[in-house]
Amino acid sequence: MRTAIFSILATATLTTQSALPSDALHSKRALLGWDEAYSKAEASLAKLSSSEKIGIVTGVGWMKGPCVGNTTPASSIGYPSLCLQDGPLGIRYVKGVTAFSAGIHAASTWDRDLIHERGSFMGNEAKQLGVNVQLGPAAGALGKFAKGGRNWEGFGADPYLQGIAMAETIKGMQESGVQATAKHWTVNEQERNRDTMSSNVGDRVLRELYNWPFADAVKADVASVMCSYNKVNSTWACESDFVMNKMLKEELGFKGYVMSDWNAQHTTTGSANGGMDMTMPGSDFNEGSYFWGPQLQSAVNNGQVQQSRVDDMVKRILASWYLVGQDKGYPATSFDSWNVGQKTITGNHFTNVRSMARDGIVLLKNEGASLPLKAPKSVAVIGLDSIVNPRGANACVDRGCNEGTLIMGWGSGSVEISNLVAPLDAIKAQGQKDGTTVTSSPNDNAQQGASAAQNAEVAVVCINANAGEGYITVEGNAGDRNDLNAWHNGNALVEAVAKVNKKTVVVVHSVGPILMESWIENPNVVAVVWAGLPGQESGNGLVDILYGAASPSGKLPYTIAKKESDYGTTIAPGDDSNWDLFIDYRRFDRDNIEPRFEFGFGLSYTNFTYADLAISGAPTAGPATGDIAPGGHVDLWETVATVTAEITNSGGVEGAEVPQLYIGYPAGSGTPPKQLRGFNKFKLAAGASSTATFELRRRDLSIWKDGEWVVPSGEFTVNVGASSRDIRLEGKITV
Ligand code: NOJ
Repeated sequence: MRTAIFSILATATLTTQSALPSDALHSKRALLGWDEAYSKAEASLAKLSSSEKIGIVTGVGWMKGPCVGNTTPASSIGYPSLCLQDGPLGIRYVKGVTAFSAGIHAASTWDRDLIHERGSFMGNEAKQLGVNVQLGPAAGALGKFAKGGRNWEGFGADPYLQGIAMAETIKGMQESGVQATAKHWTVNEQERNRDTMSSNVGDRVLRELYNWPFADAVKADVASVMCSYNKVNSTWACESDFVMNKMLKEELGFKGYVMSDWNAQHTTTGSANGGMDMTMPGSDFNEGSYFWGPQLQSAVNNGQVQQSRVDDMVKRILASWYLVGQDKGYPATSFDSWNVGQKTITGNHFTNVRSMARDGIVLLKNEGASLPLKAPKSVAVIGLDSIVNPRGANACVDRGCNEGTLIMGWGSGSVEISNLVAPLDAIKAQGQKDGTTVTSSPNDNAQQGASAAQNAEVAVVCINANAGEGYITVEGNAGDRNDLNAWHNGNALVEAVAKVNKKTVVVVHSVGPILMESWIENPNVVAVVWAGLPGQESGNGLVDILYGAASPSGKLPYTIAKKESDYGTTIAPGDDSNWDLFIDYRRFDRDNIEPRFEFGFGLSYTNFTYADLAISGAPTAGPATGDIAPGGHVDLWETVATVTAEITNSGGVEGAEVPQLYIGYPAGSGTPPKQLRGFNKFKLAAGASSTATFELRRRDLSIWKDGEWVVPSGEFTVNVGASSRDIRLEGKITV
């Protein structure tokens, strides 16, 4: 696919350097409002020729420009060839960028500030490289399937958590000047047959689960939304009036533009009239055909698409460009995706990765306070997952292999890895300070692992599970995972080590849940450190937790089951008509299934107590009726009740806690027993207290009923706790 011609074309752009001084590059912009952005867009629209309009809405073709997506410039208004580039955890196809923590790991920090900062740092790198549109964040896949290949790009199996993380990420990105893209709209839960299958989903499930985080994205003024590959109720998402016009533009009041996923467009007029505003990448990967370009102009000429529809596309695209201030000296594109080169990026963005690598770690087991480690005499570090890929961190295109420590999944949502601190590197560095002998068995051979472990005071075994986008198959996994086991016989490795070492610490890097039943109760497995997909600061963040520089404060953004069937969902071999509100913990709660570790769970080195639940506000029953603004009815976003609780660090060391609020709806609502509707995160010194405040918005108490959002009347239960199953305080709201 990567032909030399395209490389030559694209190399020419490399000579255009950013003219902005560093302070302008790093400045945060006060965004325009949509009204102002639209008046500018309208003024510019009047100056455009028909062919310029078509050029703005049509990609120039796959590999025909420096970015994964490019459009034609419109010189009459000083509008550039727009550069659209992946992805959700940093900038793809450039060396020297930061490999940020994956979305799923950002979610496991439950830390709004860190998530916001991650967005702003990513956006800043995008801007430095002249990326106009960064293709992230992702809220779909949401995580209906534990094995779903791309769940790790997004923020966990709960729409509320996804929604908060989407909004913070988008705000951060757009303040830095890049346009964010919320993807993939909508119900794109599996990689298998993603571009042929239909997700046949009812109205309510769409609104309450899958569209929910996109409403947050729209409310955060996201510039663009990417329609997905799949069909929704038998119509392609990127051709669907219901999906784009009705649900996104009318219901959610989306003012930006809808771009197709790459080749997700299927017709000229259906997509245009259905509400799509930009086609990507333009020419087909294989056939070189355009649905838009000249064909869109013909459709206008013969009356199949109204000129006003094309004008609306252009206005939406231009308004988004003005919204984030890209008309004012935005850097020119300075890299070439098809000839990956080294760039110098300024800014200490790794600090965010270090914080997330640490604070996203979830401590799952810690028998007899085995952790933190205190200058042990000897540590054996075991597993291929403890080192950088011996063939080089970027040995496989788009990280399409599983060799060495896992810090991100594979596919378009990956980036080049320029700096990577692996677990073994960081443990060795710590060992030097402590006078610890560090030995290693940096492979997955169980016998070798056991012999390295047998005489060590502590054995740290690193295992992993990977997944990614379906165009790459890794070890037989075509995007979605084949099963929920650790890869490379990780269970056997842990078992062999635990057989000979009484202080075995298991470190898991994973895209999502794995089954740990064969060893989790083994008394020699004294600790389990769920280290997620931490990004380039992996080892440093791990050592912070292993050695107690910080107390673990991550919480699981999904449920870890005892067996796969407990999730109750199966990746569909064809169309999928099995959808309900009961995914992840919602199902475990309804069916009283005991998980191994529940959604929201995570241990600390200290203890927290919860007290003094207070509830104020008097929400009223009935439908939301406010005006439509970005995000939907404005009254859906109004706070209707406030819940507070006192959280005290009653243990011996400083730590951070994530108090969580789960709401149970009135009997007869048809909702899961409880749903996440709030969380806080704060650091507390030993003995200190703080008030957790949860603001419930009208939407947080609403269900989708008969075509509208309605607050049902009756008794809502208010549950505040340390996880979805560790509820410490209960109250009621009567509506
Ligand atoms: C297809 C993926 O689904 C999407 O997420 C990505 O942004 C585009 N390819 C461009 O690489």
